Amino acid sequence: MQEQDTYYLNEICTQNALYTQQTGRKKKCLTHTFGCQMNERDSEILFGFLAQMGYEKTDIEAEADLVLFNTCCIREKAESKVLSHLGELKKLKQKNPDMIIGVCGCMMQQKGMADTIRSSAPYVDVIFGTHNLHHFPEYMYNVYQGKGRQIEILDKEEGVQEGLPSYREYPFKALVNIVYGCNNFCTYCIVPYVRGRERSRKQADIVQEVKQLVADGVVEITLLGQNVNSYGLDLQDGTNFAGLLQELDQIEGLRRIRYMTSHPKDLTEELVKTIAESSKVVDHFHLPVQSGSSRVLELMNRRYTKEHYLQLIDLIRKYMPNAAITTDIIVGFPGETEEDFLETVDLVRKVKFDNAFTFVYSKRAGTPAARMEDPISLDEKKERLQRLNDALSDISRDINDKLQDTVVEVLVEGPSKTNEEMLTGRTTSNKTVIFAGDPSLIGQIVPVTITEAQTWVLKGTLAE
Ligand code: SAH
Ligand code: SF4
Ligand code: F3S
Repeated sequence: MQEQDTYYLNEICTQNALYTQQTGRKKKCLTHTFGCQMNERDSEILFGFLAQMGYEKTDIEAEADLVLFNTCCIREKAESKVLSHLGELKKLKQKNPDMIIGVCGCMMQQKGMADTIRSSAPYVDVIFGTHNLHHFPEYMYNVYQGKGRQIEILDKEEGVQEGLPSYREYPFKALVNIVYGCNNFCTYCIVPYVRGRERSRKQADIVQEVKQLVADGVVEITLLGQNVNSYGLDLQDGTNFAGLLQELDQIEGLRRIRYMTSHPKDLTEELVKTIAESSKVVDHFHLPVQSGSSRVLELMNRRYTKEHYLQLIDLIRKYMPNAAITTDIIVGFPGETEEDFLETVDLVRKVKFDNAFTFVYSKRAGTPAARMEDPISLDEKKERLQRLNDALSDISRDINDKLQDTVVEVLVEGPSKTNEEMLTGRTTSNKTVIFAGDPSLIGQIVPVTITEAQTWVLKGTLAE
């Protein structure tokens, strides 16, 4: 962090302290985070800044003095959610004109979007993109100084920022960025346009951060990158993902290492071996396939074929026969035929995925796929999605049934969302387990016997 930013943060903090003295209440803030774990991590940094400004967290919009939207634009639905929610805030701002509203993240980084918000939502005070998140203290300072609306979108990324504050969501697990941006330009995807080119953090910075997290009580980390397999290559000093995993595997006290996302085109035998040989890297591969049709994969610019993907699955099973494998799939890519779709269903049946995130293709302005012929109706795409999901849930159910009566290790995350009396946690293979137990177990890794396998969750009891 730069000295100037410390100055901005301190100035705001002083003003907020004065406000508390005069009114007897602390200023409160709330962040709505849309999209992936990259955005979740960015919001932790934004909260880090806000905590240093003297803000307290709230979940109640009506009592918030500052509301920040960290947006996503991966699919149209993500964008419309932001716009409709933003519209609702207009009324709140009318009641409380001092409320500060900020909008940032991937959606703002799209061409023309910031201007649209500038004119259509005059009640928004601060607008910035993904490349200038670290300038947030300056924008806030300017708002506090009465300098009016702050709108800044940078066209290009500004290297890697280290040493930013952060407010971590959980004391026992943490997200850790390893590589920002994406160089792959899959033809349907907006991410390379809104997150810039690949930039890896130095291995020493990552290791130091993880050691500090472990010293603070973290037992599980998730390494983040759009394609973790290309981590380090841009540093051109021999750093690579396998080497990073080996280094992190040595950290005493750390129990689990996860990572997101692994691109099939860069998954090598050396990497699979490293993962199999490590003691902490989990037995879970999230390997987005997107389609089972080699023809569609080429149109998507994924740079692998169905056959190659199946070979990778064999490779994983050779070294780690019990590893869970999950994926992402898009149905209804422009020009996808029924035959193409059936190739996807065939692949799903061959691989036997533990779980999959499935999406109907969403047209993103400015991407190459947006200019492709797309004759299939949305209804037909939705019908394909349904057929695919049916196939996936049958498979998942079969896999989970085999876990009946086995004992799994669960990192306890908190009370179950569906039943507050129960605890929920995750296995190393990332399956959700619900069981009865004392809340003091939250943050610990405990053995649980599976008593009831369902399609998407496992139920169990604490093992002796
Ligand atoms: N970097 C990751 C994916 C990040 S986006 C990877 O390459 O695997 C998460 C998922 O959103 C993608 O895997 C894809 O399945 C989906 N997705 C991305 N763009 C999409 C679009 N235009 N329409 C529908 N789904 C999309
Ligand atoms: Fe998007 Fe492809 Fe990059 Fe993933 S690898 S973020 S799908 S362009
Ligand atoms: Fe969305 Fe940006 Fe992530 S577009 S999926 S929040 S990288």
